[in-house]
Amino acid sequence: MNYQLCPSILSADFNRLGEQIRQVESAGVKWLHIDVMDGDFVPSISYGTPVITSIRKESNLFFDVHMMVTEPGRYIADFKNAGADMFTVHAEACRHLDRTLDAIREAGMKAGVAVNPATPLCMLEHVLHKTDMVLVMSVNPGFGGQSYLPESTRKIRMVREMIEQRGLSVDVEVDGGINSETIETVLDAGANIIVAGSAVFSGNIAENICTLAERIEKRCGK
Ligand code: DX5
Ligand code: ZN
Repeated sequence: MNYQLCPSILSADFNRLGEQIRQVESAGVKWLHIDVMDGDFVPSISYGTPVITSIRKESNLFFDVHMMVTEPGRYIADFKNAGADMFTVHAEACRHLDRTLDAIREAGMKAGVAVNPATPLCMLEHVLHKTDMVLVMSVNPGFGGQSYLPESTRKIRMVREMIEQRGLSVDVEVDGGINSETIETVLDAGANIIVAGSAVFSGNIAENICTLAERIEKRCGK
């Protein structure tokens, strides 16, 4: 299994964004989580392609773009051109999820599907085979620094079972409220891509990454 700690730049200091991305990269991180919010699907507005284009120039990290955007299929080409590697859309935000997933792969990106805490997993039933990653939201999307919702643990387990039952190779990402305590719970439940925003960018970035990476190594022998 491919385990990755995936720092979310939503909690970075944007005045020093390039410097902080270099810090996570030199601490051994391979993936970067980039939260795009449109003020419609979620209340907040964050950033979009200009920021991704800019950081792509100086980073070789895998760009994991989390689209908290209504009808994200409209922006597939733009984000591909900006340098996105994974394009994750919310099942709730796509009128034609199946078509959107095809279009993401056709554009040459990995296709992810995110589900909000209240969204049932039957939404994935008929598209799992077209999906490279399922993102289980463990908070309601829109803001960093919220607390992990305990019901997410059972959901992660159910997604992992669904994938295994079908013999598929799909990553399970968890996003929201992950810190040095909750990380063990989500790893045990079957998540392998671990997003962390405030737990990485509050305080000493290198030390925070070291602590979280140690937890992954301890649980999963990575
Ligand atoms: C929330 C975002 C998350 C956020 C996580 O809507 O999707 O990626 O940055 O932040 P923490 O890790 O602080 O909960
Ligand atoms: Zn996110």
